[in-house]
Amino acid sequence: MTITAIVSALHEELAAVLDLMPDEQQQTVGGRAFWRGHLHGHDVVAVLSGIGKVAAATTAAALIERFGVQRIVFTGVAGGLAPGVNVGDVVVARHFLQHDMDASPLFPRHEVPGYGRSRFDADAGLSARLALASEQVLRELPARLGAGVMQAFKLEAPRCHQGLLISGDRFVSSTAESLTLREALPEALAVEMEGAAFAQVCHDYGVPLAVVRTISDRADDAAHVDFPRFLREVASRYSAAVIETLLRET
Ligand code: ADE
Repeated sequence: MTITAIVSALHEELAAVLDLMPDEQQQTVGGRAFWRGHLHGHDVVAVLSGIGKVAAATTAAALIERFGVQRIVFTGVAGGLAPGVNVGDVVVARHFLQHDMDASPLFPRHEVPGYGRSRFDADAGLSARLALASEQVLRELPARLGAGVMQAFKLEAPRCHQGLLISGDRFVSSTAESLTLREALPEALAVEMEGAAFAQVCHDYGVPLAVVRTISDRADDAAHVDFPRFLREVASRYSAAVIETLLRET
């Protein structure tokens, strides 16, 4: 049977996923706790990614080499960049890029040396199913969260976007930096700190990857203000629902 890795960026998300696994057992590899078990009849390994590209790459390599996972689904949060990618929306990645990769003038800016490319792809089939699961959860979101939380974050009609997700070892929390990223990479929908590292490792091993990110902030001067409360009250509840919907229906 296919072994699926469920990777969460946040403790609360992982806890919500573990609550859905009746028989999980913990194993420590590389200083990380991996949880093996079952979820809706699927063989699953659940783990926290750690923050940043190095932690993400180590986690991805351990999942593949030590646990033999055959597909990886990542859930977390991201800062919205493109106009219309608002707090409470969801981005399912189609492609990934490391916005802080720059080996110029030896290689074009953003190109990963040795690969001849700056972009890595998500698995199209798995991502399409993840987008369907996300859209279904978004439709049920007001009922799940309640009117108080919807109003507190001005969540009116959250949308699911699909496209370019960019990653770097920086929490983007100034309007100036966000504008610089948007000018350099106008196609980028959102920014986070792990997805492109997972994508490079998954490319190396030929393992399908899909990433879903709830938009927790607009990567601007207010990003740090919105962040902790959003994680607690929206994002952590939301990702477990997406994972459950995905595994129930595939
Ligand atoms: N994850 C969530 N918000 C982010 C931001 N503004 N920058 C980087 N990673 C993030």
